Amino acid sequence: SHNYRIASIPADGIGPEVVSAAIEVVNKLAQTMKTFKIEFTHIPWGTDYYKKHGRYVDENVLDVLRGYDASLFGSVGAPDVPDHISLWGLLLAIRGPLQLYANVRPVRTFPGTQSPLRSAKASDIDWLLVRENSEGEYAGHGGRSHVGQPWETATEVAIFTRVGIERIMRFAFTAASTRPKRHLTVVTKSNSLRYGLVLWDEIALSVSKDFPSVTWDKMLVDAMTIRMVQNPASLDVIVGTNLHMDILSDLAAALAGSIGVAPSSNLDPTRKNPSLFEPVHGSAFDITGKGVANPVATFWSAAEMLGWLGEEEAKEKLMRAVENVCEKGILTKDLGGTAMTKDVTKAVCDEIERLG
Ligand code: NAD
Ligand code: IPM
Ligand code: MN
Repeated sequence: SHNYRIASIPADGIGPEVVSAAIEVVNKLAQTMKTFKIEFTHIPWGTDYYKKHGRYVDENVLDVLRGYDASLFGSVGAPDVPDHISLWGLLLAIRGPLQLYANVRPVRTFPGTQSPLRSAKASDIDWLLVRENSEGEYAGHGGRSHVGQPWETATEVAIFTRVGIERIMRFAFTAASTRPKRHLTVVTKSNSLRYGLVLWDEIALSVSKDFPSVTWDKMLVDAMTIRMVQNPASLDVIVGTNLHMDILSDLAAALAGSIGVAPSSNLDPTRKNPSLFEPVHGSAFDITGKGVANPVATFWSAAEMLGWLGEEEAKEKLMRAVENVCEKGILTKDLGGTAMTKDVTKAVCDEIERLG
């Protein structure tokens, strides 16, 4: 219907700074293009909410989110609350339970910005990281016994299911089949991890048979870090487990230029539940409140959200505006510039208006 209701969950740290910038930019886009309408509803979940109510989210968190077409999330985590409490209280209370099983993280070097890899051309890094987002190392199984005793034991159990692996593998092969290079790299650690990750390898092989147009290879995660640095142009789509891709997506963002531009889409590809869009980065305590956070990761996440909702033209326009602003050298500190969050935001709004 071209009329969208979005839950905005800015939460903690620089989250509110980058989410309000993104809302400004998307509202400008809607006003300028007039092809769609969008309404953001503020949801106050986060650490302040936790300190007041003893919980990070409302009890009916999933039903609240189901009342919207999508969510735009900032970041969660505060210096005075243990990270495992805040993350399981908010973000991880949504991703798994809403079955947002595909976490999609595109990575590329924007015009006017540079990879720290000396020999890399801008076009060498153009990757799509696909992260399994509902199970694996984040299944939440485990516990501690004999707490405080010398014989204390803790387990952290990764759960891998055939259904879970197969659906993310199909998603990744499908994504690869629509890109120019049509290549997929399956990341595992099936030398030391004998059960779940061997199942990953087996399922990769069987699913690959349904995608004859896609070339694919396998990498062990440790060697993958070398390949990303030494031969970035050999990579296209990359799929891996929840934890492996968490780590590789920060590395990928840094290799492309900065964590400050990296977006992510937490998708339910079946579209039963509304998807959630957020920058890859966290609360960034070191720069919170200074007005220097790079809002581009959240702009790009919002662009992905528009694309997911079917507003392909709005997505393209927003991305073009962001690229043009980068090309002009209006960059935050993480990208070597001196612009503030508000300068980049204003420049993107002006560019949207100029593009019409
Ligand atoms: P972080 O991503 O917050 O910060 C890592 C580094 O990147 C910092 O130097 C920070 O200043 C910089 N950075 C991050 N975003 C930036 C931006 N937009 N512009 C410029 N620089 C940026 O990771 P961390 O320090 O490991 O985590 C801090 C807190 O955030 C912790 O509580 C952690 O659990 C949480 N966290 C939350 C999310 C999330 O909500 N999705 C993601 C990662 C970490
Ligand atoms: C990310 C973050 C999260 C993760 C945290 C905040 C739970 O690091 O989205 O990359 O580990 O998935
Ligand atoms: Mn991460």
